[in-house]
Amino acid sequence: MRTVIAGNWKMHKTAHEAMELIDGLRALSAEFPDGVDVLVAPPFTALQAVSQRLNGDERIKLCAQTMHWENQGAYTGEISPVMLKEFGCEYVILGHSERRQFCGETNQYIRLKTRAALAHGITPIIAVGETLEEKDRGLTKDKVVTQTQEALTGLAEEQIRSVILAYEPIWAIGSGKNDDPQNADATMAEIRACLPALREVPILYGGSVKPENMAAYAAMPNINGALVGGASLQAQSFAGIITAAAPAVAR
Ligand code: PGA
Repeated sequence: MRTVIAGNWKMHKTAHEAMELIDGLRALSAEFPDGVDVLVAPPFTALQAVSQRLNGDERIKLCAQTMHWENQGAYTGEISPVMLKEFGCEYVILGHSERRQFCGETNQYIRLKTRAALAHGITPIIAVGETLEEKDRGLTKDKVVTQTQEALTGLAEEQIRSVILAYEPIWAIGSGKNDDPQNADATMAEIRACLPALREVPILYGGSVKPENMAAYAAMPNINGALVGGASLQAQSFAGIITAAAPAVAR
């Protein structure tokens, strides 16, 4: 199983600042453990600058934060998979809770986007997770299993094996209150069990991941890496998380 550490920069970093962060990461990339796929997801406006600055560096891959499902058309403000491919984007985050909450993304949209990504050879990282209220009402499993199944419905097993999932409890995102690694692992086991093809799919944990807590996640059987927000905005802390993910590679 692959181990993946993805940095979601959200709405941070101008193109100029993004190039500085890439330089910082490249300076540390000799320390990245073998077998960990390292991804950065800058805002659209910095993709070209980051792509040029990477200059073909194989250690760091480019990811987008969302995309539309059509190749082109009258969709003001949207970005298509064709446009992402132009800058060498190999991955795209789909269904991040902030997109679901602030931009009205539904499971139906995420299904269309997943199909489009796969059709263009872009690996989708599909994010699922529950609110604090849903967790308190015991609805976590229902929520994440429904989100996962609705994103993947109608896909062939072989296609499902090409996706990556990310379990991000919404209450843990940006709050400093990371989920207990064993709890997260138990939820991720339930996600993995909901479709047979998910046995071979990496599932990342997201929500207040830091260099100090990554090793505990990497030790869990169902956790194959992390989707990192705040701690990916600084080269040292992101590199610390990448290094701490090494034990997951052995599985
Ligand atoms: P965080 O964000 O690491 O800042 O909690 C994670 C995410 O939203 O992907």
